[in-house]
Amino acid sequence: MADRNTDPWWRDAVVYQVYPRSFADADGDGEGDLRGVRSRLDHLADLGVDAVWLSPFYPSPMADGGYDVADYLDVDPRYGTLADFDALVADAADRGIRVIVDIVPNHCSSEHPWFREALAAAPGSPERDRFVFRDRPNNWRSNFGGPAWTRVPDGQWYLHLFDSRQPDWNWRNPDVVEMFEKVLRFWLDRGVAGFRIDVAAMLYKQEGLPDLPADHETAYLVPDGSPVPYEHQPELLELYRSWREILDSYPPETFPGRRGTVAEIWFDDAARARPYLAGDGLAQLFNFRLMPTPWAAPDFRAVIEDSHRLAAETGGSVPWVLGNHDVPRMVTRYGVDQALVRAPTPDVLLGRIDVDRDLGTRRARAAALMLLALPGAAYIYQGDELGLPEHLAIPGDARQDPMYERTGRAFIGRDGCRVPLPWSGDAAPYGFADRAVRTWLPQPGDWAELTAERQRAEPGSTLALYRAALAERRRNPALGDGDMAWLDLGPDVLAFARAPGFALVANLGTAPAALPAHERVLLASGPLDGPLLPPDTAVWLRTAPRSPNPPAVRAGEPR
Ligand code: GLC
Repeated sequence: MADRNTDPWWRDAVVYQVYPRSFADADGDGEGDLRGVRSRLDHLADLGVDAVWLSPFYPSPMADGGYDVADYLDVDPRYGTLADFDALVADAADRGIRVIVDIVPNHCSSEHPWFREALAAAPGSPERDRFVFRDRPNNWRSNFGGPAWTRVPDGQWYLHLFDSRQPDWNWRNPDVVEMFEKVLRFWLDRGVAGFRIDVAAMLYKQEGLPDLPADHETAYLVPDGSPVPYEHQPELLELYRSWREILDSYPPETFPGRRGTVAEIWFDDAARARPYLAGDGLAQLFNFRLMPTPWAAPDFRAVIEDSHRLAAETGGSVPWVLGNHDVPRMVTRYGVDQALVRAPTPDVLLGRIDVDRDLGTRRARAAALMLLALPGAAYIYQGDELGLPEHLAIPGDARQDPMYERTGRAFIGRDGCRVPLPWSGDAAPYGFADRAVRTWLPQPGDWAELTAERQRAEPGSTLALYRAALAERRRNPALGDGDMAWLDLGPDVLAFARAPGFALVANLGTAPAALPAHERVLLASGPLDGPLLPPDTAVWLRTAPRSPNPPAVRAGEPR
């Protein structure tokens, strides 16, 4: 088998996540579609991303925004057709952009034909064995709240680690293994550059389905780090090795380089991630650990250090992530009292919270420079390049995320980061569709100044900052994959050097900080205060090219 490091384009790629329902609506029905994505590819090319990850666009009753797949081998009519998909891949390739698709192997939709067959078949039948049916449920809870089991009319129960309309597959059934191999090949044949693997740690459940300790909450809501019997089972490593063989059997066609996988595996502890990365299966594990990190330099530093060490020790790749369709947007996370990020109160879960949007925006811009300067690959969630905040004020009856109801309305859910993008104009739908439509989630009334059109014309906009950072990242050999060295500029400043001749300095404190010796400021997330770096601001510096580690200057020392 080929060395997994042969031409691994994904190791320093910047990948842009498209949530198709909310990206752009070409047919004017209030929901995004693939033609809409095609029509906005120039935005992505201008931005300078290397690849696009498309969240699910497969036929689905949309009980969980399409992560409830009824047919893995087609496009939902609301998003278009397979021909639209092929055209999208081709148009993206013309712009040098790869396309990654989402594969959802833990569960399907309750409308999937095999689940319907299972319901129609008798207990103990081969049809039921493709799912997890039992005569008695255990005490597992759904990651979305409520029990993980639903009873069917003949008295049996089926397992669903998410919504009841998302039955879990039984990965010990060979039909399931074989079916997903076909799914991989189907999309690889259509030219995808790889897969994002949904819920990648949960496919196999421990034999016997042992109960959890009585006081256990769901891992999704309360990540307590304790091992649960439906995560990290050893069979996964073998499965992902077999997928890697399938991916590697595809010669580079449209693009040089191999096909990659990026797995959605939440880990607090590097030890959890190590077996996946050290094996020869998964190319990448998302590194989600920056997202819940409060705005404090020591916290960021600890996460970065541990993650970077993990990547270095295993030779694996853990792309950095600051936002996705499952977490509140960073402008909002950083614009609230950070004590609440450490310990969210019931009010926070309901979105009843004061947000300082200016502060959040300054910090989100600084964080973007940090993200794109760190060694390795990075993911950008659609709309973060526009500095969108979370839309907290969606009325209860307009909410779509199943978590809202399943938690008994104790958590507003994830809709606030999934609102249709503002492209142009002064009022909703802000160019999301080119006619007046009611969008599937309402847009806030004050997004006119955040549209892509408006920001394209503004030199200091968040969009301009992302574009400049990605352009610099492409031309600066210090950026992308490689090593880093910390610079000690005091407890409130996060600073690291990258060879040759580059440093990132971010001030996460409350007082202006001195910059280390440098030749030139390449980019700044906000205005500087003379020679000082104001709070909540980051810079990219060109430092003396021959010294990989510029001499650190302590804040307050004469420069
Ligand atoms: C992943 C997806 C999330 C989805 C869940 C169930 O966590 O990112 O959006 O709800 O899986 O498929």
